[in-house]
Amino acid sequence: MSTETQTSTAECNGARPETVTVTDNRTGRSYELPITDGTLRGLDFRQIKADEQDFGLMVYDPGYANVASCRSAVTYLDGDAGILQYRGYPIQELAERSTYLEVAYLLIHGELPNKAQLDEWTHQITIHTFVHENVKSFMQGFRHDAHPMGMLLGSVGALSTFYPDANQIDDPENRDIQTIRLIAKMPTLAAFAFRHSNGQPYVYPDNDLAYSGNFLSMMYKMTELKYEPDPRLERALDVLFILHADHEQNCSTSAVRGVGSSRVDPYSAIAGGIAALYGPLHGGANEAVLRMLHRIERKENIPDFLTGVREGKERLMGFGHRVYKNFDPRATIIKSAAEDVFEVLGVRNPLLDIALELEKIALEDEYFISHKLYPNVDFYSGMIYEALGLPVEMFPVMFAIGRTSGWMANWLEQVQDSEQRIARPRQIYTGGLDRSYVPIEQRG
Ligand code: CMC
Repeated sequence: MSTETQTSTAECNGARPETVTVTDNRTGRSYELPITDGTLRGLDFRQIKADEQDFGLMVYDPGYANVASCRSAVTYLDGDAGILQYRGYPIQELAERSTYLEVAYLLIHGELPNKAQLDEWTHQITIHTFVHENVKSFMQGFRHDAHPMGMLLGSVGALSTFYPDANQIDDPENRDIQTIRLIAKMPTLAAFAFRHSNGQPYVYPDNDLAYSGNFLSMMYKMTELKYEPDPRLERALDVLFILHADHEQNCSTSAVRGVGSSRVDPYSAIAGGIAALYGPLHGGANEAVLRMLHRIERKENIPDFLTGVREGKERLMGFGHRVYKNFDPRATIIKSAAEDVFEVLGVRNPLLDIALELEKIALEDEYFISHKLYPNVDFYSGMIYEALGLPVEMFPVMFAIGRTSGWMANWLEQVQDSEQRIARPRQIYTGGLDRSYVPIEQRG
């Protein structure tokens, strides 16, 4: 099969034809396929058949590396230029000037709120931070050593049973309240999971505190009557949540959309996203970075470790990205946030020195340069979390708190998009056919 740009009347008149002509060399037939927004319609290939019985051509793309599955106005990402924008606002400006709740409003509603809107949004999130007491007892049933991400996954899924009306997904008011609940309750569930792992009593939300300050209180409050979060740590956490809030059609967001395409309630769809985020190649990457840095242990061991990476025996975790091929703008912001946190806490994480050295060597190394591998957001986030006293198991949980607003923005967009259908890809069947059942005693 060959492709060529068609010469049409439009081209003779000077206008560029927005079509591709595909010639099927099996039949000699040509097809003119329209280009819309830089894409071809997958279903347009089905008309290309070797003969009448043929099913028609499909597109094979494991990992969906070159498939646009939706139209979205939430997040703009240009991997080559290292640009990330939420609703058109550069991530650098948002991380510097905004708060997580304001960014969450922006992602959900499409515009920055005015003062009254932000006050109302903040109030609504604040008064929905509590969870039903039975959720607490439900979480107490997990084993003492349960992974907090597994607990979060199970608990968010369970929330759908506490709000059975959440399946009314065509009702805008219903969607609004579930959105508020999910953003409000995620830190509560995350903190409960953390306290459970530590064998400590759960701490209820404190409505006098802001979003990140309340989270710190639910995590770390002990016997004091009132927990006073350090404003600098509160700010660092807010920045981390902003940086993780959305990242267009990543694995977990695609999972939320995929699960949501069956028109299930948002708690179940978000539980699908949390499950995807649990994996080491996605939200588990910062956990893997920390484990890797601990394993490397000393700067002197870096060359041996990198030899193993070059030989394909392992990966340099926290490096590489499906989309960013020059740099990840989030990594730059997070690197300076890490320095701030260490300054506040008065400790310098010795792993930071290993990470800095690893980054320096890797950025000058032929293997990493030729594979376009640069530090991603997770290379430094784990060190901040560790400095805050979080065990590695909590790292993907922290990611999930921030990402909830992005998941919900995508879920809201999807359920209102008339072009969307249930996610149902095709396959290339590689198994046997028409085999006759053999009774067990006759099998070799
Ligand atoms: N270390 C060493 N080699 C790597 C790495 C790495 N971190 N990442 C990719 N490569 C190599 C890979 O071996 C392959 O080499 P070759 O072509 O010679 O076989 C080539 O680069 C392309 O790799 P790929 O796996 O096809 O690339 P991908 O776009 O499918 O994977 C990735 C993207 C993020 C899964 C991958 O870079 C990776 O595993 N990185 C480490 C895990 C990590 O840090 N994940 C966090 C991503 S950022 C958070 C988020 O948004 O979820």
